[in-house]
Amino acid sequence: MTTIQMVKMSEHVGTEMLGLDLNNLSDGDVAAIKAELAARGLVVFRDQQIDERAHISFAKNIGPIVVNNYFPENGEFPEIAEVRKAETQMVNIGGGWHTDHSYDQIPAMGSILVARELPPVGGDTLFSSMAAAYESLSDGLKATLETLRAVHTADHIYGPQGFLSNSDQGADLKGRELKTRAVHPLVIRHPVTGQKLLYVNSAFTTHIEGWTRDESLALLNYLYSVGSQSAFQCRLIWQPGTVAMWDNRSTWHYALNDYHGHRRLMHRITIDGVPIH
Ligand code: SIN
Repeated sequence: MTTIQMVKMSEHVGTEMLGLDLNNLSDGDVAAIKAELAARGLVVFRDQQIDERAHISFAKNIGPIVVNNYFPENGEFPEIAEVRKAETQMVNIGGGWHTDHSYDQIPAMGSILVARELPPVGGDTLFSSMAAAYESLSDGLKATLETLRAVHTADHIYGPQGFLSNSDQGADLKGRELKTRAVHPLVIRHPVTGQKLLYVNSAFTTHIEGWTRDESLALLNYLYSVGSQSAFQCRLIWQPGTVAMWDNRSTWHYALNDYHGHRRLMHRITIDGVPIH
């Protein structure tokens, strides 16, 4: 097994795993990556020479691939979704706190993002720990949240009237006709570590089951303000050769949109999950 140098990116989330070559991983390396992903929610690899085939085979080492229904596909490799913004576009994909695929009955376990083209500055991604956010709450609120479930959908984003469909990203998106709806507990246990996690996000959670939207927003907006506290975050500054993999159950992420006039292209593969409780 390779000697891996682990560098924490912040107190609660993210580890840079240095010394690994993603083209050449032993079973022990893969086990170490999976363990660190479960423990820290985000693992980052630097200076990788990873082409599309290697991206796919690394992803398959982690778990089965689930193809995103909306993002533009990479022509040659349908397993790879493109997260792209051209020099002429103003809106980016992922430009708000969210977790991928929470609108699915079985949300994706994780996502693996490879930097292909980066702006000269900016385009960083923020991550936040939903374990730390949950732990920071009072026992009283924790107990209340444990009794609640929330509705998640992507229709207001990717449907015909959706925010992204009607933005300058719209022409590249697919899946407008799809309907999504999933109901998940507000607090879930991480399937590997058993840690309790806050499981709502401002992009895809529409309301609390049995509550009106206004009632729901009063509580949800409070939880979003907790989840987005800088104390629970880390910031990933991408470089050529950077690859990041995050756990969609235990983290939120936010792709900063501060590089207008420049192109950014990322290749994303999403890994299938397990039922969440
Ligand atoms: C995403 O939200 O999956 C994309 C993140 C990024 O582009 O940094």
